[in-house]
Amino acid sequence: MSKHVAVMGATGAVGTEFLAILEQRNFPMASLKLLASARSAGKKLKFRGEELVIEELTAKSFKGIDLVLASAGGPVSKQYAPVAVDAGAVVVDNTSAYRMDPEVPLVVPEVNAGDIKKHKGIIANPNCSTIIMNVPVWPLHQANPIKRLVISTYQAVSGAGAMAMAELEEGARAFLAGKEYHPKVLQHRCWFNVFSHNSAVGPDGYNAEETKMVLETQKIFHCPEIRVTATCVRVPVLRAHSEAINIQFTHPMSETRVREILSKSPGVEIVDDRERNYFPMPIDASGKDDVLTGRIRQDPSQDGGVGIDLFVSGDQIRKGAALNAVQIAELL
Ligand code: A2P
Repeated sequence: MSKHVAVMGATGAVGTEFLAILEQRNFPMASLKLLASARSAGKKLKFRGEELVIEELTAKSFKGIDLVLASAGGPVSKQYAPVAVDAGAVVVDNTSAYRMDPEVPLVVPEVNAGDIKKHKGIIANPNCSTIIMNVPVWPLHQANPIKRLVISTYQAVSGAGAMAMAELEEGARAFLAGKEYHPKVLQHRCWFNVFSHNSAVGPDGYNAEETKMVLETQKIFHCPEIRVTATCVRVPVLRAHSEAINIQFTHPMSETRVREILSKSPGVEIVDDRERNYFPMPIDASGKDDVLTGRIRQDPSQDGGVGIDLFVSGDQIRKGAALNAVQIAELL
């Protein structure tokens, strides 16, 4: 059944990837409407060989629309997702606006596809670092319940949007030419630098990205008792996030067993070549659907053989955002 689809935030880093993925996966559509701010109204984007004109997002944008893929920021989703639902559409929302709402399913299709059935109009797409970590960790959790996860992220600037990606390129170019360039999108210089994630820091010292990884994983896994801590950091990478993941299982877990499980897990590609020192890298993960997973090794600091370390890279714009949302739409 072909659907009338609208993309909210069509000009953004995730929005443009929505178009690429809908095209690549030949998503069945009766029509496609591109929505962005008044700044972009009248501009055109290519889709399936045709030029589509971008329209300004207003409360009237959703008449006759069945499905909305939203990625125009939390405040825009807060304002317009209920309007779209009232007009009869289902919204797959890529922002954090509804993720922790108990009425809204938060879905990684490889983990909790069944939750989609419970939706009341809005389905939330999880945080990008959470998705990329959940895909390889979930099948391990099913085989041997995980007690605790300790995660360190190496996050690309793509997570802060298309303008942050441009800022990394322009800043690096200016720096190499010996010119002054001041960051406008991110609060610190992202070229030749790393800094603590740019989301707000709470009174507990955790930034919002770290808190999302904790709470969203517990919700997606239906496992409030899983202990998670994270340190989220931006690195000068254009797209694709990497993460070091330390796992404490309930029972002993060998690296052979981890390899065996992950080699059969959907959405995971093992990249773990010790001889060539070849492991997951963001440049290899960029443009790919699977989460590259490697550095699979026993953590000898945990007694009883219950500790495993992993290093993963996943395309933040694809699996971390647009692809996951389109997979949800396909299941719908
Ligand atoms: P625009 O390009 O017209 O500003 P990114 O996450 O890459 O920064 O992209 C954000 C997306 O959200 C863009 O498509 C942007 O459109 C869109 N957007 C931002 N603010 C609004 C708004 N108030 N109404 C509609 N679209 C918006």
